[in-house]
Amino acid sequence: MRKFWISLILVTLSMPAIALADGRSDYRANCASCHSAYPNGYPDFEKAKAMKVSLKQLSLSASEMSRDEMIMITEKGKGVMPGFKGKLAKEQITGIVDYIISAVKKK
Ligand code: HEC
Repeated sequence: MRKFWISLILVTLSMPAIALADGRSDYRANCASCHSAYPNGYPDFEKAKAMKVSLKQLSLSASEMSRDEMIMITEKGKGVMPGFKGKLAKEQITGIVDYIISAVKKK
């Protein structure tokens, strides 16, 4: 019985870690407001205009960056885009980037 309670506690404790690594919901919470609801969706024209960038710059499906470059941009930011280092854990950032890559993959 003691083992049961210990494993129950361990399972409960590990749940936030699983939630943290959920790239899709982290994308929705942190990136969707500028980059559209889905990484392969069309960004909002008015938003792009307000930030003085082109739709192509906002469109993650048009990005030719490698995974490493995307991680770096997400950490440091680019132009009007804020950097997320310190706001998101490294695993969250890599989780988001992996989600973006899997969502925009054409092949
Ligand atoms: C405040 C709006 C805003 C938010 C929020 C935002 N971005 Fe951006 N992002 C931009 C803008 C604007 C650019 C284009 C910057 C430029 O080219 O000067 C950009 C560019 C990028 C690029 C580079 C694409 C390329 O090929 O040039 C990546 C990758 C990126 N964002 C990922 C993310 C991720 C991941 C998140 C969430 C963690 C995020 N962005 C949140 C506005 C935002």
